Formats: sequence, structure tokens, C-alpha cells
Amino acid sequence: MLSQLLHESNYTVIFTGAGMSTESGLPDFRSSNGLWNKKDPTQIANVDSLNQNVDEFIEFYRERVLAVKEYKPHKGHKILAKLERKGMIQSIITQNVDGFHQLAGSHQVAELHGTLQKVHCQNCGKEYSSEEYVNQAYYCECDGVLRPSIVLFGEMLPEIDFQFAFEESKKAELFIVLGSSLSVTPANQFPLIAKENGAKLVVINQEKTDFDRFADLVINDKKIGDVLQEVDLSN
Ligand code: APR
Repeated sequence: MLSQLLHESNYTVIFTGAGMSTESGLPDFRSSNGLWNKKDPTQIANVDSLNQNVDEFIEFYRERVLAVKEYKPHKGHKILAKLERKGMIQSIITQNVDGFHQLAGSHQVAELHGTLQKVHCQNCGKEYSSEEYVNQAYYCECDGVLRPSIVLFGEMLPEIDFQFAFEESKKAELFIVLGSSLSVTPANQFPLIAKENGAKLVVINQEKTDFDRFADLVINDKKIGDVLQEVDLSN
């Protein structure tokens, strides 16, 4: 069914969440061993925590920066890059900040929530590689604190990525969600925008989501890596 939908579609957009990277070894946020079961996101993933609790903020995000350098894209990321090269998918909209889609070779990628591969100064905005965090350098030349270039709760999403995601969702004939609980706005609006513009919607997620009722196909009894491998073998 999924391969048939892929072949019938002339414009396929992939939307990924943290479930796309669990098979690389990175935890997601809301399933049983997710990050937000250990840390309250409202206490850590926001600018107040950066300003008032900078040591805990840096410790939490340094751990995540080290993790995305320790773990690697898995076969699923590589298959998505291959499908882009073959013209079978046109773009990826990701909520993930691990940079794994680009590392696996995907080019048309919108990073709605930024990236852990870079850090920037909270004061002057100067960008640095996230190696600074690896080397325990946490302050800018201007003495401002360095923070990961991700979107913290309450912050605006990057305009260019948001607009790209919006345009891609409107153009999609097939919109495939991979590994997201679809519980965070505005990211979770893109599947609906695609659906409202005539796309077929597929949700591949190990747990139910509130958007399953809008989907033309839901797969929640298989892991993403296995689903993508089946697609790869049938093309
Ligand atoms: N195959 C299929 N589904 C999986 C797999 C897998 N291998 N691993 C995990 N999942 C599913 C989980 O069941 C879960 O429902 O992926 C989903 C991940 O959901 P979340 O943990 O909520 O992650 P996500 O939807 O990406 O969160 C969105 O929330 O905290 C913010 O900014 C953060 O980008 C993140 C946003």
C-alpha cells in the first residue's frame, strides 16, 4: 500500500519527528523512555532556564550535543536520501535537531526546530560549531553565553524553514509522517495543511496520534527502519 502510494504520487513530502532517530540510539521525548520523562521541558527547554539556570541548561544541552556526535544516521535516514536522489520524495520537514537527514545525504530539508550541530551567542548572535560545547567553551568573545541553535519553547521557528515547510505541505500529493506524536504546534499543523490541499496522509508511528483519524494510512505495528527497508526493497 505505502509503495503504491509513493509510485502514484508526483510530489511526496516526508515529515519526521524524534521517532525517526531512536533507531540511531537517540531517545525521543514522549514515549516510555523519552527525554521528557526525565526532565520537565518547561524547566529546561526555554530561555528563562538559559538566563536563570545556565549551568543546568548547559549540562543538559551539552549531553545532547555529545549524543548527536556519538550516534549516526541509520538505514532509514539513508533510504530517505536515496529516495530523494531517485526523485521519489521531494523534501523532508523535520522537527529533529540532530542533523541526521543531511548527514545521510538528504538535501531538501527544513529544520523547523533548528539544529544541535551549531551553537550561537545569546547576546550578539555570533555562530560557532557545537564543538565549542564539546570542548566545554560556553561563552562568546563578547562574554555572552553560547546556546544550541535550536528553537526553545516560546521562541519563534526559523522563518525560512517554516516558509519552505508551508510551501512543501501545500504542494504535497503524499505527506508521510515518520515518528512523531504530533503534539507540538505549529509543527503539527503541516500534516493538516497537506491534507487540506488534497494530499494523501500517511502516519507511521508506534503510538497512536490525534491525527490518525485524518490519515489515509496508519502504520503503528512496525518500526520506521523496517517500513523504509520494505519500501527500499520494492523499488
Ligand atoms: N518507529 C516508529 N515510531 C517510533 C519509533 C520507531 N522506531 N521510535 C519512536 N517512535 C514514536 C513514538 O511512539 C512517539 O510517539 O515516535 C514518536 C515520537 O514522539 P515525540 O517523542 O513526542 O517526539 P516529537 O513528535 O518529534 O516531538 C516534537 O517536541 O519537545 C519538542 O522540540 C521537541 O521536536 C520535538 C517536538
